[in-house]
Amino acid sequence: MVIFMCGIVGYIGDRDCTNVLIDALEKLEYRGYDSAGIAVMGNGAINVAKCKGRLANLVEKMENEGRPSGNMGIGHTRWATHGEPSDINSHPHGNRRVTVVHNGIIENYRQIKEFLINEGYSFVSETDTETVAKLLDYHYSGNPVDTIIKVLSEIKGSYALGVIFRDFPNTIYAVRKDSPLIVGKGEHENFIASDVPAIMKYTRNYYLLEQNEIAVIKKESVTFYNTHKEKISKEIHVADWDVDAAEKGGYEHFMLKEIHEQPTAIKTTIMPRIQNSMPDFSAEGFDNKRLSSYKKIFIVACGTAMHAGLVGKYVIEKLARVPVIVDIASEFRYREPLIGEGDLMIVISQSGETADTKAALELAKNNNADTMAIVNVKGSSIARDADMVIYTHAGPEISVASTKAYMVQISVMYLIAFELALGNDTITKEQCAAYTKQLEEIPDIIEQSIALENKCQFVASKLLNAESLLYIGRGLDYALSMEGSLKLKEISYIHSESYAAGELKHGTISLITEGMPVIAVVTQDDLEEKTISNIKEVKSRGAMVILVCGKDVQVEDEVADYVIRLPKADKLLMPMVAAVPLQLIAYYAAVLKGNDVDKPRNLAKSVTVE
Ligand code: F6R
Repeated sequence: MVIFMCGIVGYIGDRDCTNVLIDALEKLEYRGYDSAGIAVMGNGAINVAKCKGRLANLVEKMENEGRPSGNMGIGHTRWATHGEPSDINSHPHGNRRVTVVHNGIIENYRQIKEFLINEGYSFVSETDTETVAKLLDYHYSGNPVDTIIKVLSEIKGSYALGVIFRDFPNTIYAVRKDSPLIVGKGEHENFIASDVPAIMKYTRNYYLLEQNEIAVIKKESVTFYNTHKEKISKEIHVADWDVDAAEKGGYEHFMLKEIHEQPTAIKTTIMPRIQNSMPDFSAEGFDNKRLSSYKKIFIVACGTAMHAGLVGKYVIEKLARVPVIVDIASEFRYREPLIGEGDLMIVISQSGETADTKAALELAKNNNADTMAIVNVKGSSIARDADMVIYTHAGPEISVASTKAYMVQISVMYLIAFELALGNDTITKEQCAAYTKQLEEIPDIIEQSIALENKCQFVASKLLNAESLLYIGRGLDYALSMEGSLKLKEISYIHSESYAAGELKHGTISLITEGMPVIAVVTQDDLEEKTISNIKEVKSRGAMVILVCGKDVQVEDEVADYVIRLPKADKLLMPMVAAVPLQLIAYYAAVLKGNDVDKPRNLAKSVTVE
């Protein structure tokens, strides 16, 4: 089965549609880049251009073979998890009468395909999407909304669909279920897109399509219908991100730009939740009494977001003395977890669309636990499903490797820990205010961490020939090491593992050979001596040690080959300070290796399939 996690766009207006579609698709390439395609209405016909590979391949193809032109069209960028990316499997799909772009999975496509084959239809691709296009054609009654409603009653699965009908050359139709889709409202022009950055250059005003709402989009109007064909009115949203926020702003890569944006992202995230130097979640509708009513807290997420949860666990348990279980969403959802009434489930997600995280959230709800989502993308599925939502304000994160989203997720974890600890009387009001004040100072301290950039670049140059390396740390430093290791792996393609420093001698130390890099993180003074002993153990076995440590950590000359000294902050908050050099080391290792930093191979930004 071919599964998609893709980006879709659509445009109607006076501009050259092909230009707008390509430009918008560029912003969505992070959602997948296995193929790209557009369908444009021109001279009464639907003209399609599509091919395998990056959007750049499509642009080149159109330069050589001609480009469709017109004032209305739809476009697609694809990420396939199964089945070969190919020209034929590229979207759009359809026939001369109806053409479709799709993000999601049609679960019953085999049955539909069989039925349509019996009805005389033939298929050219392996995709589930082609069955939707042909089913629309089969049910086509001359009325597109009726036809779409009929098709919705027959398809099962997830979809965001952009549809054009040859007979309606001035209208785009769109519908979604379980895959994101917005409708952008411009002046004498309108758009559809999988997310806001795709169209932000043209308009900041957009509607969020809800489950199975159908949008009928013309140049001068947008009308919405439910599946009973009743007109519905919808609230318009205004994107409050900077127009430049989705552009690189002079940086070589989005990842570097996003690393530099971290101080601002943290400020924007925490400031609305701090009143008189105390955490304040009243705007989110909860307080420390509600938080302290929970017996157990589960934090569930994937990848980097899960690593932010690990920092949360340390801090909540330390300050608030409540047991916190952190789990990977894909594990949690299938292990029959002991979660129930009286428990709090916190899910963390940048995109708010990660399928496993979403499923874990559902499971918690079904077990009567209260749920809280920490999410960056407004109006995303996870944000809408949870009982309580805390939006992080990182702005759009374009680089596939997450940096600023991680940082703001951690900042929220701290605020929750402070609020909860206050509610549990495990810290005093004064202590809470002191911690909160220190958190407020973190953005400035992170600026100093970012100033370590040259040093990180130098250290990264020492890793390029390594086949494998280790990240080690204890406590919060271990939680952070896990993120450092993931970041390096995903963009530099150098293998690494993170290990609790004290666990090395139970097996892993046998991997150490002459010159093998070990990145050790030491920011917690109570554990400093212990970790330094572990570093000595690997050093004496030939490791090349890179030490990322606090300002005052005592290091004898022979302990480390390279030392990155971090600016000073409260030790509890050090993960935020130390994360930056680890991000920069990964970034420069990838740059120096000549990798595609913002779009690492085999990955996509938001994982909306299992
Ligand atoms: C790694 C990375 C991923 C995501 C993970 C969860 O840099 O970005 O590990 O953290 O796929 O994604 P969200 O946060 O969108 O749920």
